[in-house]
Amino acid sequence: MSEPFIRIRNLHQTFGTQHVLRGVNLDIYRGETLVLLGASGGGKSVLMKHLPVLLRPTKGEIFVGDVEVTKLLERELGPTRHQIGMMFQGGALFDSFTVFENVAFPLREESDLKDSEIRKRVSDALEIVMLSEHREKFPSDISGGMRKRVALARAVVNAPACIIYDEPHAGLDPMTGDTIDKLIKKLQREQGITNIVITHEIRSVFRIADRVVFMKEGQIYWIGTPQELEATKDQLLRDFIEGNAQDD
Ligand SMILES: Nc1ncnc2c1ncn2[C@@H]1O[C@H](COP(=O)(O)OP(=O)(O)O)[C@@H](O)[C@H]1O
Ligand SMILES: [Mg+2]
Repeated sequence: MSEPFIRIRNLHQTFGTQHVLRGVNLDIYRGETLVLLGASGGGKSVLMKHLPVLLRPTKGEIFVGDVEVTKLLERELGPTRHQIGMMFQGGALFDSFTVFENVAFPLREESDLKDSEIRKRVSDALEIVMLSEHREKFPSDISGGMRKRVALARAVVNAPACIIYDEPHAGLDPMTGDTIDKLIKKLQREQGITNIVITHEIRSVFRIADRVVFMKEGQIYWIGTPQELEATKDQLLRDFIEGNAQDD
């Protein structure tokens, strides 16, 4: 494989007395779909929030390309946050905004694009997630699966190099979950996007992952391909695959 796109080095994070990340080391390659697994409360979301520097580590470094992003000042983070889009757990949509306005929000917030350009980019993003006909609806008028797709369009609209999906399958029926998986792979294939997917949906792991990472107690416990995961004799991983995990 080529040079890593994102390098996480000895990352630590502490909240009060809780030592959530305990020296995470991880390389992420350009154009891959990496799936991040691990028990609830294990620090997966916390780890990922460090990539666009929404959280600052108590120790350690992250490099995105050649840039040590953990060193940047708040006002220097614009380009990094443009490169790394995030689809948050729960979607975090504005109830009083239409689908269109929800997707336009990041563009209106942080760019001086002309309104016509904003409308074009939002239309393109809505087309990717197949929501063009629903652009004038409000979040309360569409299904849970569609709300996830709105959140995805909002992550895509800035044309990021990397998208982090925090539990995109949570609360979805299997068919809707499959739609999300297809979109994730389409973004990888057609736009070369680097995907990082946090999920508990083991079915999806085998459908979308190029590599799988398992976190435990604030560290990387295991890394491998889906084939290696399927063949593993590690009991913790087997319990997870077979759905015996004491989780949620
Ligand atoms: N901003 C925060 N302040 C304090 N504690 C937090 C914060 N964010 C997460 N935590 C705690 O860190 C731990 C890991 O959380 P999280 O990364 O959300 O787990 P998960 O692996 O389920 O995504 C949890 O115990 C959570 O309560
Ligand atoms: Mg989480």
